[in-house]
Amino acid sequence: MTITVIGHGYVGLVSACVFADFGNKVWVIGHTPEKLERLRAGDPIIYEPGLAELLQKNIKAERLIFTDSYDPAIKESEIVFITVGTPPKPDGSADLSAVFTVAKQISHNLGPHFTVVSCKSTVPVGTNREVEKILIQNKRAEASIAVASCPEFLREGSAIHDTVEPDRVVIGSDNKDAVAKMLELHKPLPGKRVVTNLASAELIKYASNSILATKISFANLISFFCEKTGADVEEVLEAVGMDKRIGRTFMYAGVGYGGSCFPKDVQALTDTGKKLGVDVTLLQSVEDINHQARANVLSHVLKTVKGKHIAILGLSFKPDTDDIRFAPSVYLIEELLKKGYTITAYDQAARENIKRIFGDKITLTENAYEAVEGADALLVLTEWNEFKQIDLAKVKSLLKSPVIFDGRNIYEPSKMREMGFQYYGIGRS
Ligand code: UDX
Repeated sequence: MTITVIGHGYVGLVSACVFADFGNKVWVIGHTPEKLERLRAGDPIIYEPGLAELLQKNIKAERLIFTDSYDPAIKESEIVFITVGTPPKPDGSADLSAVFTVAKQISHNLGPHFTVVSCKSTVPVGTNREVEKILIQNKRAEASIAVASCPEFLREGSAIHDTVEPDRVVIGSDNKDAVAKMLELHKPLPGKRVVTNLASAELIKYASNSILATKISFANLISFFCEKTGADVEEVLEAVGMDKRIGRTFMYAGVGYGGSCFPKDVQALTDTGKKLGVDVTLLQSVEDINHQARANVLSHVLKTVKGKHIAILGLSFKPDTDDIRFAPSVYLIEELLKKGYTITAYDQAARENIKRIFGDKITLTENAYEAVEGADALLVLTEWNEFKQIDLAKVKSLLKSPVIFDGRNIYEPSKMREMGFQYYGIGRS
């Protein structure tokens, strides 16, 4: 099959590489010449384990073509995926301008045959209907189209695995031919098939991300109780999760969730709920608690640390990515700088991205030990394996005061105290 993917962010590029790897011819449309040049040379631009190899393999096999032109890509394609960004607007609603602009471009370039146009970008309920209207209004008479919603559930850091081994493939459309085409394209993938209407498919994505964010905020809420009562959040949640109806996955307390999806999608669902007259108190609380989780760590630091030099290990919003969008580190650095602290920090991937925001206001080091040297306290914000296996005795000898705030609960409190650290975990008495 020949398909087109418009946009080459996490969802677009990973999907394009995986579909090309299944033997399809895949056009990828972007609009920044320098990025397209790098992609053509096999550089995925984004940090994602395994992606460079998959990209290079499929460029070599001539199944993956990068272009800034809609012609002939759209004309040749049976399926066109829209995977452009839908960033949050200041009021929390999703900015759909890129989706609609792209839809118009597609409509002008459709071939004289049946084309399925499918949003893989996370879009609020009703967006695909808007896309359908734009396509119908602007297309030539001989072109026939149907829209299908096909949300993507990949995680950064394990994007290829999640795309190749999905738990489910969701296809929302009221057109039988569109569903058949989408099922054919997804045939090599394992996992359950969920064929449903457009609105349900769109809502499935928001509901999935919101329940995951809810689990995390619930874990953080319980950690606040633990801090006030002497209970241990790890033991509490471990036991709670033993109930098969609840489970332990995605119920880890910490310094809060970040990334390009949870913060944005919880806000966007909240906005949709308000517009529809649905009470969104639960979603607002999920977001509030997420903010409290990071504010809570800040307040412990301000209360406890004697000097003004803080070391930070881990800057990305989670391990195995260089992404710092909505990362707790960004909030904490901003607040600590405002209060006159000096910051030395290390992250094996997110260095350049953090540098772009803070420039020389903080010192980024080449390794973890350099960052902790001479600091009055250490803040661990991302659970990279490197920090789990760090030489703690060396860390202790390098710190000016042996104070650790473990924002991801990666160390054992009793061991840390035995080693002579003043240790603070999240919800760990
Ligand atoms: C998420 C969804 O998991 C994925 O299905 C969707 O397609 C996109 O959004 P991603 O943003 O890549 O993926 O990261 P994820 O692994 O889900 O983690 C999100 C955030 O939650 C991270 O900041 C992580 O540290 C935090 N988290 C996760 C917790 O604080 N506690 C947990 O128990 C799990």
